[in-house]
Amino acid sequence: METLEGTTALVTGGSRGIGRAVCLRLANDGAKIILHYHSNRAAAEEAAAAIGREVRLVRADLGSIDEIEAMFGELGPLKLDFLINNAGIWKGTPMGSTTAAVAGQIIDTNLKGPFWVTQCALPLLKDGGRIVNVSSVAGRIGVAGGRSLYGATKAAIDALTRNWALELAPRKILVNAVAPGYVTTDMTSDYFSDPAIFENALRRHPLGRLTAPEDVAEVVAFLCSEGARYVTGQSINVSGGSVI
Ligand SMILES: NC(=O)c1ccc[n+]([C@@H]2O[C@H](COP(=O)([O-])OP(=O)(O)OC[C@H]3O[C@@H](n4cnc5c(N)ncnc54)[C@H](OP(=O)(O)O)[C@@H]3O)[C@@H](O)[C@H]2O)c1
Repeated sequence: METLEGTTALVTGGSRGIGRAVCLRLANDGAKIILHYHSNRAAAEEAAAAIGREVRLVRADLGSIDEIEAMFGELGPLKLDFLINNAGIWKGTPMGSTTAAVAGQIIDTNLKGPFWVTQCALPLLKDGGRIVNVSSVAGRIGVAGGRSLYGATKAAIDALTRNWALELAPRKILVNAVAPGYVTTDMTSDYFSDPAIFENALRRHPLGRLTAPEDVAEVVAFLCSEGARYVTGQSINVSGGSVI
């Protein structure tokens, strides 16, 4: 297996779910991990212990530009090989009853956050580095359940991916995205506690199971590998065929 020894990855939302799996996967290949979390310090420490090698923990609410800038101030001078924009929230925004506060929180965390993190990270990212954004199939298809604004932020992540790929090509920084189907994480556990909803989601995944965090982490690792050296501006579904 290819080694990432000597490289450093900043993974946002690395404390749980997909981000945690990405941290474990990249660390397994030898990358030093800077694990960002928001409020669940215990989960971040548990993830760091599972990684079992040097991990640096950093905290910020990515819905706040001030907190993002403070986090980078705290990180100080360092060089990054990989930036994984993973952190996000999934909240309902039914038409007719969505508050401005919830709408703002989703846009700030899922869209403005990754934009600002990337802007702050660019001076630290080596030429030839990689950015992987975590999008969603919800950005490409209509999903029932009143989560249109979430889908819109994920479609926007795909748009950022394509635009950054062009903007950063002169520095040979490759920018790609992964678009998971439904993943079994804390984000979806309440939703899937309803067996009818779970069965319906399962039916939409032709390979017969929902996406595992590790399925996504494998593709992120590929996009960080030498094998992906000529891939940029792409958003890859990791969804068991749920969007073809
Ligand atoms: N689960 C799915 O079905 C699914 C499908 C497609 C795409 N995705 C995308 O995959 C990414 C990860 O999802 P997941 O299912 O792994 O979620 P998760 O298990 O709920 O974990 C969310 C992660 O994001 C962090 N986070 C939450 N709110 C934050 C905020 N305001 N500022 C900074 N960090 C914050 C959390 O930190 P704390 O631990 O400190 O709270 C945690 O590390 C998200 O972008 C999500 O939209 C998920």
